[in-house]
Amino acid sequence: MARGHTRAMDRDPGSAAPSPVGGWNDGEQVAWYLERIGRLEARVAGESMLVDLLPPAPRRVLDLGCGDGRLAALVLDVRPSVEAAVAVDRSEVMLAHARERFVDDDRVEVRAWDLDDPIGPLGRFDVVVSGFAIHHLDDERKRALFAEIAAQLEPGGAFLNLEVVASGSERRHADFLTAIGRTADDPEDRLVSVEDQVRWMIGAGLVDADCLWRWRGFALLVADARADSPR
Ligand SMILES: C[S@@+](CC[C@H](N)C(=O)[O-])C[C@H]1O[C@@H](n2cnc3c(N)ncnc32)[C@H](O)[C@@H]1O
Repeated sequence: MARGHTRAMDRDPGSAAPSPVGGWNDGEQVAWYLERIGRLEARVAGESMLVDLLPPAPRRVLDLGCGDGRLAALVLDVRPSVEAAVAVDRSEVMLAHARERFVDDDRVEVRAWDLDDPIGPLGRFDVVVSGFAIHHLDDERKRALFAEIAAQLEPGGAFLNLEVVASGSERRHADFLTAIGRTADDPEDRLVSVEDQVRWMIGAGLVDADCLWRWRGFALLVADARADSPR
């Protein structure tokens, strides 16, 4: 993980406002992010695909790097079967937004958790979702996390990871940044290709790993737990 974030600003060509890159504990970056995410059409399309791919009646859901809880909320909206959702993040600024969102929802537990730490203690789940978070981990930790997800999913459970991924070339990546209104990377990004991540998920013990939606540097990476995975 990148520590010691730069306070520099890059320009957002889509608006007059600069794009903060101060890290996820920076209130300015979080406010900027939360204000714009619902307006990113590609993101909304990816979320729609994620919702389409949810299993029909999950009971327990985990949202990794939950931010303000947007993805967990989407799952809860469309799957009334959910009895418990655990939403974790390490940014206190984001967690405050998530707690506010779910203040009246007893099904949701919002927890401070560093994804650099093993997720086993969080329990077992029918669905693990993540939105634009795992790419902040270093590659070794990403691979270990995929194995932990395989271990914590109930048999046949699903992992749905809406992510920022490496583009095929520097030019494609630059075009992607322009398309989402950035002129510089988030310094915390550790981007990996779809192909590598699908391979890593299979290597971690997940099955039917695939990329089922892609728009430039956004991708929906999915995999299931083995139907006979041990409880
Ligand atoms: C781009 S935001 C995405 C937030 C939310 N999931 C969404 O879909 O909008 C990335 C999130 O990942 C979190 N994050 C980054 N590294 C983390 C880590 N090591 N442990 C926990 N959360 C982390 C950040 O705090 C931030 O909330």
